[in-house]
Amino acid sequence: MNIVGVDLGGTYVKIGLVDSKNGKILKKSSIETKVELGGQEVVKRIANAILKLTEETDYHAVGIGSPGSIDKENGVVRFSPNFPDWHNFPLGSLLSELLGKNVYVENDANSFALGEKWFGAGIGKDHIVALTLGTGVGGGVISHGTLITGSTGIGAELGHVIINPNGPLCGCGNYGCLEAYASATAIVRMATERKKKFPNSIIFKNEKVTAKAVFDAARDGDRLALMLRDEVVEALAIGITGFVHIFNPEVVIIGGGVSRAGDILFEPLRKRVNELVMPTFKDTFEIIQSPLVENAGILGAASIVLQREN
Ligand code: BGC
Ligand code: NA
Ligand code: ZN
Repeated sequence: MNIVGVDLGGTYVKIGLVDSKNGKILKKSSIETKVELGGQEVVKRIANAILKLTEETDYHAVGIGSPGSIDKENGVVRFSPNFPDWHNFPLGSLLSELLGKNVYVENDANSFALGEKWFGAGIGKDHIVALTLGTGVGGGVISHGTLITGSTGIGAELGHVIINPNGPLCGCGNYGCLEAYASATAIVRMATERKKKFPNSIIFKNEKVTAKAVFDAARDGDRLALMLRDEVVEALAIGITGFVHIFNPEVVIIGGGVSRAGDILFEPLRKRVNELVMPTFKDTFEIIQSPLVENAGILGAASIVLQREN
């Protein structure tokens, strides 16, 4: 069965035609998100891109992963940080009308967790904590085989767990959320704040500061970069330790652009979480980098369909 997965990012909408048997992406395309065009127009463009992608191949249904608070029953985006004007926006029904197919909408990080369960590091596992470290920090939890979403469907916002109430302002309006320490946005902010003090850090050798530049510099032994790395690790370790104590997962799977830092991030993170967890939790879980890499969004979105229809 072929499924269309749509990953609704802040800059790009990535669309893929997925063979649900094996998670192979048969075809993919991407369009610019262009928030300024307004919701109706963005949906029209997504529909056109899907029609083009599926000209020669039929498909069963569409899954969309979107950041923010989603009313999954009705396919409504209640609020999305990428689309500040989308309040109670009926994304699912609008797209479904244009395509004549079922459309399922889910929080992007919940989709990521589902994608890992169907096609990634979560295959065969029923207890998964998933985190995405990108523009924001997203969370998804599968417990006893079930995606945990809470009473109104918006739970598992693991990125907005407060690590330090006296910490930096988060995109959500709170202070000291995990997202305010471990998102790509936060890492760039933390580096930039210290530019005056560390003007010679190789983080600043290119004009544009990126999270990738920070981890590359850390790998080269840059002092500021290693300090920032340690701050990111500490925040993540505090968050993950809590998640481990609550959900007793088999795996903690971490994806998103920041996760591609690899060992320079994962090795100290594993060590620190192991120090912080209660003794009985030691060695009960693994912390893994998502193997789905740049396809995680599309595969996750396609997995929403599999989860809802199974
Ligand atoms: C949002 C989440 C989303 C995450 C990743 C956060 O800022 O609040 O809903 O899952 O970013 O996109
Ligand atoms: Na979530
Ligand atoms: Zn927050």
